[in-house]
Amino acid sequence: MGTAKLILDGKEHDFPTTTGSEGEVGIDIAKLRAATGAITLDEGYGNTGSCKSAITFIDGERGILRYRGYPIEQLGAARFTEIAYLLIYGHLPNAAEFEAWRDKLTRHSLLHEDMKKFFEGFPATAHPMAMLSAMVASLSTYYPDDQDLDLNIVRLLAKAKTIAAFSYKKSIGQPFMYPRNGYNYAENFLHMMFSVPAEPYEVNPVVARALNLLLILHADHEQNCSTSTVRMVGSSGANLFSSISAGISALWGPLHGGANQAVIEMLERIRDDGGGYQKFIDLAKDKESGFKLMGFGHRVYKNFDPRSLILKAAADEVLDELGIDDPLLDLAKGLERVALEDSYFVERKLYPNVDFYSGILYRAMGIPTNMFTVMFALGRLPGWIAQWKEMREEGYRINRPRQIYIGETARDWVPVERR
Ligand code: SDX
Repeated sequence: MGTAKLILDGKEHDFPTTTGSEGEVGIDIAKLRAATGAITLDEGYGNTGSCKSAITFIDGERGILRYRGYPIEQLGAARFTEIAYLLIYGHLPNAAEFEAWRDKLTRHSLLHEDMKKFFEGFPATAHPMAMLSAMVASLSTYYPDDQDLDLNIVRLLAKAKTIAAFSYKKSIGQPFMYPRNGYNYAENFLHMMFSVPAEPYEVNPVVARALNLLLILHADHEQNCSTSTVRMVGSSGANLFSSISAGISALWGPLHGGANQAVIEMLERIRDDGGGYQKFIDLAKDKESGFKLMGFGHRVYKNFDPRSLILKAAADEVLDELGIDDPLLDLAKGLERVALEDSYFVERKLYPNVDFYSGILYRAMGIPTNMFTVMFALGRLPGWIAQWKEMREEGYRINRPRQIYIGETARDWVPVERR
C-alpha cells in the first residue's frame, strides 16, 4: 500500500494507493470529495478504474491478453465452453466438471416454445442484435429470479446461440432448426444456422474449429464499454438477463463490437471504389471527413491487439483450407500495410484490433455481415457473465458517477405570456 499526494488550493491531501498482481497502481480516491470538495473528471474513463477484478489481464503496451492468467496464445486447442467455465468459475474444469458442464449446456439449449412467438412480431428486416437484446431480456420473464444463479448462467449460455440462430432464420424466412444434443457448441450453432429440414446437413470441421477459435478470442476483455455496462446495470440489483441485454446493446455500437460489421462494409466500399487504399487512409486522417479506419485503434492496446495477430493467421489458414479466395482479405492486408507505414497511425499507435480480420473469417463461414456483431456477443457472453458474477460476489455499491455542471446558474421562472 503506497500513498499519493494531491495539492489543491495549497492544501496537501494523501490518498492510499493499491497495487494489482501485475504491478498496476491505482490511487484510491474514495474519500477525495469528502476531503477536498473536488471530484476527478475523466471523460471516457481512460484513466479511471471502476473495480478490482481477477478475471482478465490486458497489457496494452506489450500486447498481452490473459484469461484467469492463461495467455490467449495458448488456448488454440481449448473448447469455447471450457473457456466459458474458466472465466465464470475461475479454474479450468477437470474432466468430470467439464462433462457435467457440457451436459447441462446441452440440456438447456432449447427455448420455451412460447418464446418462438416473439419472433413473429419482429419485421423481417429487424437487425439480429435488436432481436438478441430483446430476447435475452425476455428470458427474465421465464426465469424471473437469480436464486439459482448457476442454472440461469447455464440457461443464458445455452439459449443465446439458439436465439442468435433463430434470429438469422427469421431474417431469411427459413424454418427454425432446433439444437441437436450430439453436437458441441460451435457445431450446434452452425447446424441451427445453416441446416434446413429438407436435406441432411454436414458440419464442416474446419468451419467449426474456426468458430470455436473466434468465440474464445472474444470471450472477455476486462472493463470495455459493454462489460462496464453489464456491471453498471447489475450494480442496481437488476437481474442477470437484463444486465446482459444492456451489454448487448452497448456492444452494437460501431465504435465497439459493431466495428466488425463496419470493417467489412468499409472494405467493400474500398473494393467498389477501385481498391485504392490511399484515398481512404487520407480520409481517415481528415478529421472533417467523419471517416475512421474501422477495425483500427484501441483504447488500451498501443501495440498490436494479440487477437488480431491470431485472427490474421487464422484467416489465411481457414480460407486456404476452404479453398476460398476472398479479395477482401488481400485488401485488408494491404490497408494494414499502408496504414502502418503512415506516420498518422504510427504516431497515434493505431494498430488493427480484434474486429479488423474477424469479419473475413465470418464471411468465409457463410455468416452474413449483419450477424457479425451477434457472433461477437456470443463470444463475449461468458465474460459478461463472469464480470457480473464477480461484482455480485465481491459486494457492490450502485454505480453512480458525479459530474461537473456547466449549465445555467439559478434563474427565475417566467410565465409563457411574458416570454
Ligand atoms: C472493440 O475496449 C475494448 O476492449 C473493446 C474491444 C473488446 O474486446 O471489448 O477490444 C472491442 O471495441 C475494438 C474497437 C473496435 N472499434 C473500431 O475499430 C472503431 C474504430 N476505432 C476508433 O473509433 C477508436 O480507435 C476506438 C473507439 C477504438 C478507441 O477510441 P479512443 O481510445 O477514444 O481513441 P481516440 O478516438 O481518442 O483516438 C486517438 C486519436 C484521435 O486523433 P487525434 O485527436 O489524437 O488527432 O487517434 C485517432 C483519433 O481521431 N483515431 C483514429 C482511429 N482511431 C483513433 N483515426 C482514424 N481511424 C481510426 N480508426
